[in-house]
Amino acid sequence: MTRFPDLPDATVLADPEALEPYRRDESHVQGDLPLAVVWPKGPAALKELVRLAKAEGFGLVPRGAGTGKAGGCVPMGEHAVVVDFSAWRGELLLSPQDLCLSAPASAPLREVKATAAAGGLFYPPDPNSWESCALGGTLATNAGGPNACKYGMTRHWVLSVDAVLEDGEVHTFGIHSVKANAGPALGQLLIGSEGIFGFIVGATLRLTPLPREHATLLLPAKRWEDLLDLPGRLCGAGYLPSAFEFFDPAVLAELRAHGPDEARRLPGEALAILEFDDRGCTFGPFLEGLMDLLGPMAESLEIASDARQRAGIWAVRRMTSAFLKERHPKKVSEDIVVPRSRLREFFAGLERLAIPSVTYGHLGDGNLHVNLLGAGEADPAELDQQLMDLFRLALSLGGTLSGEHGIGLSKREAFLSLSDPGQIRALRALKQALDPHGIFNPGKVL
Ligand code: MLT
Ligand code: ZN
Repeated sequence: MTRFPDLPDATVLADPEALEPYRRDESHVQGDLPLAVVWPKGPAALKELVRLAKAEGFGLVPRGAGTGKAGGCVPMGEHAVVVDFSAWRGELLLSPQDLCLSAPASAPLREVKATAAAGGLFYPPDPNSWESCALGGTLATNAGGPNACKYGMTRHWVLSVDAVLEDGEVHTFGIHSVKANAGPALGQLLIGSEGIFGFIVGATLRLTPLPREHATLLLPAKRWEDLLDLPGRLCGAGYLPSAFEFFDPAVLAELRAHGPDEARRLPGEALAILEFDDRGCTFGPFLEGLMDLLGPMAESLEIASDARQRAGIWAVRRMTSAFLKERHPKKVSEDIVVPRSRLREFFAGLERLAIPSVTYGHLGDGNLHVNLLGAGEADPAELDQQLMDLFRLALSLGGTLSGEHGIGLSKREAFLSLSDPGQIRALRALKQALDPHGIFNPGKVL
């Protein structure tokens, strides 16, 4: 192909200099220069693109807002075309009767959440990038976030997906109801597939009434190990936080020393941020029961007294990833998971392995951002070994190597070598059946 052809209802960019930014997302990996970037505006463009990809033998790499953390949207090899969904047309349609909202993949997640909220409804998924990411990316990666502690991941909030498959047509999987049981849920297979089976172009999302009360608590710990049993103890006693986040002593110290004003005031050796959104969570009986459960730790508990304080606490938590990245540009941030009942064993194992790392993240659901701040200076073979040791530790405790970011390029080798071979065989068979020409996001995940 000498010149990338024009497409109906799409914008095409093929100037190599302008293509440079498309080699990256927000992970530490860098891909190859794509042949072109295409912005399809509707199904006709996508249909032609699929036809061309099959005829000319190039791969299609989906891209939302480029905020992914695993290299899932960066091109690999010489024959890749980035399909940027930001110009895809479509409206946000709220249906209060059906408790759902339909939106195109291009919709900013911020707008999805705001549209639901304006109708008194709640769309819980809240990845850290929620103010800048696109809905399509969150569907392709099954995004998480702090609220997953109570509400689960993106896949738990999708009623139906519209996706283009290898025939070039857009198909809808699912209906506008929580009850749909006519055969296996193919839509669920597409969510979190990182675009290797087809591309999601829109979805109908499940909503729930918007919580009206929030109790946001800062829980400093003198000995940070005291925090580790708490998620399990709270859940065991019937307290399910809508978020339970934490900073280990090293992250907290760095935030306090170099972070914004709100961070400089943070108390404790280590710190947990707990939030509840149950009805009555800001009143006496709920909080008294919680204090009893916390025991001596409750003495240093601070409760956000108003929306401004709550926003300040969350602002610090939300900027932690970017803050650490700015200070340690070559850091590697992982997102392993262990069941919350195994947190103490995980940290004991991490200490035994002596992996130079700091940790913060979603303590309440066992999803931990283990950050190797010195990764840029480390010997690459040693770094690989450390990451494999970290993943093996998580797996040995009944966990997984990724709770949020997905596999993409960055964890592909580890995923292939550490997963049950039967799982990989089944996924490869599905890939072959759904994408026999191998055009959808080649080189990712499998
Ligand atoms: C977070 O919770 O801050 C993120 O998922 C970020 C990360 O791992 O960098
Ligand atoms: Zn996270």
